[in-house]
Amino acid sequence: MGTSPGAEPVQAVRWTDDGLRLLDQRLLPHEERYVVCRTAEETAAAIRDMVVRGAPAIGVAAAYGAVLAVRARQAQDPARWREGFAADLDRLAAARPTAVNLFWALARMRRVAAQADDAEAPARLEAEARAIHEEDVAANRRMGELGAAFIEPGSAVLTHCNTGALATGGHGTALGVIRTAWRQGRIREVFADETRPWLQGARLTAWELVREGIPVRLIADAAAAALLAAGRVRWVVVGADRIAANGDVANKIGTYGLAVLARHHGVRFMVVAPTSTIDPGIADGGAIPIETRAADEVLTAAGRRVAPQGAGAWNPVFDVTPAGLVDVLVTERGALERPDREGIARLLG
Ligand code: MRU
Repeated sequence: MGTSPGAEPVQAVRWTDDGLRLLDQRLLPHEERYVVCRTAEETAAAIRDMVVRGAPAIGVAAAYGAVLAVRARQAQDPARWREGFAADLDRLAAARPTAVNLFWALARMRRVAAQADDAEAPARLEAEARAIHEEDVAANRRMGELGAAFIEPGSAVLTHCNTGALATGGHGTALGVIRTAWRQGRIREVFADETRPWLQGARLTAWELVREGIPVRLIADAAAAALLAAGRVRWVVVGADRIAANGDVANKIGTYGLAVLARHHGVRFMVVAPTSTIDPGIADGGAIPIETRAADEVLTAAGRRVAPQGAGAWNPVFDVTPAGLVDVLVTERGALERPDREGIARLLG
């Protein structure tokens, strides 16, 4: 893959005549291979197995999965499709537990199905899935503008995990801010955590930035403290998988440590997430379900075992950053400095 300055961001999730076309993120950066999901079950498996990942992208994929479900269930039994459809949506919801965008998108699809008669349901659900996708891209572009305005020209920034076009409907959340700020000439350099164990930073963020000609330097996750202590970045910019009503933020494991480090070293900490990532039904971060994945993800690196047989591992893939450590929360409805319960309630109107 060559560098192509100014290249358009990749489109990882695409609705086609054949079904839902996903760029298989397990294979990047070595191979750009697309898989096509033709059933809701295949879509749920793609989310569970991380063919597609990132909170907003999971929501968009699940919405298209619901379109595949209505089509298949109506083909089986045009009059009694709703029961099977509901079961398919439950299966999609069970694919991953932390990113609330998944449940938010499926709730929208359920509402539309409930209001549609049998004949109009497939078209109405397809229109809703497309709307969820388009709204996400628009939200990311707006957040890009709002977040970039905080970044002083000439800044270096640190980001974590992958929050780019791969993780969303397009453009990106935190990486969308970085992308916009770069185009505006505000960013000198991006540091990206490699993000063990799945290496979203090394495999995906670096891939997105290199293909667009945006300068990126990877660091081992453990190097973040030294980077911030050396005063080499002005902002840490991250996304979110679920934000509680009080502003606590669940995001990729390691985010909490970065927030503590940023506060300690006087570096500013920005969270970028659409309002679809805010879960007003969860009072604080302690109640956010945190996904634990297979021990093998920690015990191996690049497909090769790195720990001795007999060693175990603990692999929580998200952690919770208390709202008090967040300097700015950027959403498509506006940027909130020092987010708290009142500010979030105001934002959600
Ligand atoms: O396990 P992943 O790769 O789905 O986790 C992704 C993240 O934690 C992102 O930072 C998050 O979804 C927010 S930005 C799109």
